[in-house]
Amino acid sequence: MIYARVAGIGSYLPEKVVTNKDLEKMMDTSDEWIRERTGIKRRHVAADDETTSSLGLEAARRAMDAAGVEPDDIDLIVVGTATPDKVFPSVACMIQRRLGVRGAPAFDVHAACSGFVYGLDLANRYIQTGGAKTALVIGAETLSRITNWEDRGTAVLFGDGAGCVVLQASDEPGILATHIHADGEYEELLHVPAGVSLGYEETRAGRAFIEMNGNAVFKRAVATFDNIARETIRDLDGEIGDIDWFVPHQANMRIIKAAAKRLGMPMERVIATVDEHANTSGASIPLALDQAVRDGRIKRGDTLMFAAFGAGFTWGSTMLKY
Ligand code: ACO
Repeated sequence: MIYARVAGIGSYLPEKVVTNKDLEKMMDTSDEWIRERTGIKRRHVAADDETTSSLGLEAARRAMDAAGVEPDDIDLIVVGTATPDKVFPSVACMIQRRLGVRGAPAFDVHAACSGFVYGLDLANRYIQTGGAKTALVIGAETLSRITNWEDRGTAVLFGDGAGCVVLQASDEPGILATHIHADGEYEELLHVPAGVSLGYEETRAGRAFIEMNGNAVFKRAVATFDNIARETIRDLDGEIGDIDWFVPHQANMRIIKAAAKRLGMPMERVIATVDEHANTSGASIPLALDQAVRDGRIKRGDTLMFAAFGAGFTWGSTMLKY
């Protein structure tokens, strides 16, 4: 049996930090409201000369260093992003060029906040079927570029960043199971109602912003995290107790806590970085993972569960031995 095993992880956060106090000066909000409703204290925001590809590139370099792999070893690059630099080429191709990787397939997966787990699902299938030996799976976002900084209902929630895992073919267990899903019925509950084919007027006018029905998204996210985690555990004939660390998409601390409670996961075994990073969409799971590996909580041999939920709606999970 060939497994896709995590050989290295890396992440990158822009230097600029915007605290809740900073937001108080920009809109009618308060540090207290934001912390109480979301758990968020601060977020990183890309500088003018930073883009999704530059963030993803740095995360990829760090992950490759951690894994000890060279550009020539890479035979697949998948980037989960909803905020690409350009309409085309893909962020994956831009990163591929800057890494000096030649010829390997490189493409973006557009599944909003679930982009990283969608990418893991794909890369895992490539590796298991012999289509790739060493893959980069990157989650990278510059959500600040589609955030309406005049809308307190959404502006306080998002941040920028990137994370990357190097997956390698191995005889030793790595990814144990993945599940991904979508239901397009909920398009208008969470969307950016502007783009290429719909027309560029909004985009040109600088109004291509995230719009969301926060309450509806909240309820759906909690129920979905629970269902998707249970689906994966059932598939492996396992139980919640098998999971050492739950690493959910970092949207909101209340969503994370409610999902952990429904799952019966004590918060001591949940990785939460939403306080420091806010919601970085497809980058949030690899950012949280990298932090927990670096601070020594997650160790080799631990069993991890990732669960994501995002616009579409899309959702998915990954269970793996780290
Ligand atoms: N500061 C102060 N007051 C605010 C702010 C703010 N930033 N934003 C909204 N309010 C006000 C509202 O205007 C409202 O005032 P009113 O009662 O006078 O009308 C009041 O606070 C309550 O608003 P609600 O929207 O009911 O607040 P809620 O407790 O639902 O929290 C939130 C809003 C944080 C957006 C919540 O619904 C949420 O987290 N939803 C999930 C959304 C999410 O995470 N989306 C990310 C993308 S999807 C994903 O990644 C899973």
